[in-house]
Amino acid sequence: MDSQEIRQRFLKFFEERGHKIVPSSSLVPTDPSVLLTTAGMQQFKPYFVGQKDPMADFGSKNTVSVQKSFRTSDIDEVGDETHLTYFEMLGNFSFGGYFKKEAIAYGYEFITKEMGLTIDYVSVFEGDAEVPADTESEEIWKSLGITKIEKFGRKDNFWGPTGAEGPCGPTTEIYVRGVEVWNIVFNEYYMKPDKSLEPLKQKGVDTGMGLDRLAVMVQDKKNVFETDLFEFIFKKIEENTPEKDQRSKRIIADHIRASVFMISDGIVPSNTDRGYILRRLIRRITHPDKSQIPIAETVIESYGNFYQELKTKKILILEEIKKEEDKFRETLYSGLKQFEKGVDPFILHTTYGFPFDLTKDLSRKAGKSIDEKDFEEKFKKHQEISRAGAEKKFGGHGIVEGDLTASSPEELKIKTRLHTATHLLNAALHKVLGDEVSQRGSDITVERTRFDFVFGRKLTDEEIKKVEDLVNEAILANYPVKIETMPLEEAKKSGALYFYKGNFPEMVKVYSIGPSLDSGSPSGRPFSREICGGPHVSSTGEIGRFKITKEESSSAGIRRIRATVE
Ligand code: SER
Repeated sequence: MDSQEIRQRFLKFFEERGHKIVPSSSLVPTDPSVLLTTAGMQQFKPYFVGQKDPMADFGSKNTVSVQKSFRTSDIDEVGDETHLTYFEMLGNFSFGGYFKKEAIAYGYEFITKEMGLTIDYVSVFEGDAEVPADTESEEIWKSLGITKIEKFGRKDNFWGPTGAEGPCGPTTEIYVRGVEVWNIVFNEYYMKPDKSLEPLKQKGVDTGMGLDRLAVMVQDKKNVFETDLFEFIFKKIEENTPEKDQRSKRIIADHIRASVFMISDGIVPSNTDRGYILRRLIRRITHPDKSQIPIAETVIESYGNFYQELKTKKILILEEIKKEEDKFRETLYSGLKQFEKGVDPFILHTTYGFPFDLTKDLSRKAGKSIDEKDFEEKFKKHQEISRAGAEKKFGGHGIVEGDLTASSPEELKIKTRLHTATHLLNAALHKVLGDEVSQRGSDITVERTRFDFVFGRKLTDEEIKKVEDLVNEAILANYPVKIETMPLEEAKKSGALYFYKGNFPEMVKVYSIGPSLDSGSPSGRPFSREICGGPHVSSTGEIGRFKITKEESSSAGIRRIRATVE
């Protein structure tokens, strides 16, 4: 059974059971709180929460889809037998139509009868202080003859929400050959940004099954790369780059497939937001002298029948990949010059995008030794932010770290750069306009930071430029960002700026950036010092170029600045 037949059978199975077939939504979600579409349920969020009426839009309370999805959470794992960034998700949904009994019976029937697979075991939610154990699902599975039923907690058997808030609930999962293939979510709650749960007015069903994984089982293969979803792509990679090891080939296969689909949905490589993720994918597989275009062409051929947009956008897709490959080769070239000048490998990596592996290779060839340990230590520190974020992931998709929330480690990184830039901006405004400036609010999205402050008049062009320059100078100086924890009163006395949002703990964190008395600063004060929950970059060089894009009035006596980092 090829993957096309699996898709068709899935859609038909649910169509015959009263579901309306809904096309995949774009990889670029309409929900601004998430960077990319990570699940089939995202396009249906308004129906789960009762904002939109499924009868009016679909003529049914139940829908079914094959959703294009992208998850950054596993990006560093790609190359093994199971992890992917882009994948297709088969899902059936109900918005106040059916619930546990039907959802489980459909799952059971589709897997065992339609796909001819054997269910090893299933899992259900074990219950905790807030959400009761799902004994109902357990009983339903037993009535279907399934006896091996595992019970897990929030980490494994509770979904959601995507983004900062949204529908969520306990799940039951189906395992085949020891691998989870199907996640069935019972949306009973709405999670608010403070993580508290409120019961939803109507109960909903949201299921998701990875097509690639299912194909492994149905086609009896060892891994996703052996299924028909990757067969031709893999062959082409072997022809195109015969010297590559297995792991690199899998990375190329995953990343090029993901890139093709991202570009077809309108994403182009850039330094922010989704464009940054796409850039990373393409750069990781850019070969010094061999283009990956033939592989991209094979992806378009293999998937073009089900996803027509790949065919219509073929030229654009290939052009964008080619442009990025060429650009990266230039980066490699200018990095090479810095390398020859003896620039630190970590700076080469963060500032010039020059891969450390390449630095090692070149050093070896030149007979120079490099301090790998030093690089690793700096790199580890650099990564701490995203790792801390990833660990705090809830349900796999929302990250809350200090004062920031993000939907992925990538997004958190971008917002962290903007967050530190906001501190520099605040400091620069004080320096240029004087201490009349006082913060009134700030807001950071993946695209920009927005900063509101008390000031009596419009800023002149000169003032804006001066502020911008001061921030960029602080970035170029690559100041370390220092954190200290101290009692609130002491922090205030130390001259730290602060923005009172209603509560401060007794002990606060103070972030200092730039030279201080002990490093010979003439004023004896660091460039910036603020009470804040973090997170921040470890040194300002990581921020990139800072640009003020707008200065306007926000309300009487309050100015508003928007700025970006590149
Ligand atoms: N939202 C759940 C998931 O993505 C089920 O679709 O796993």
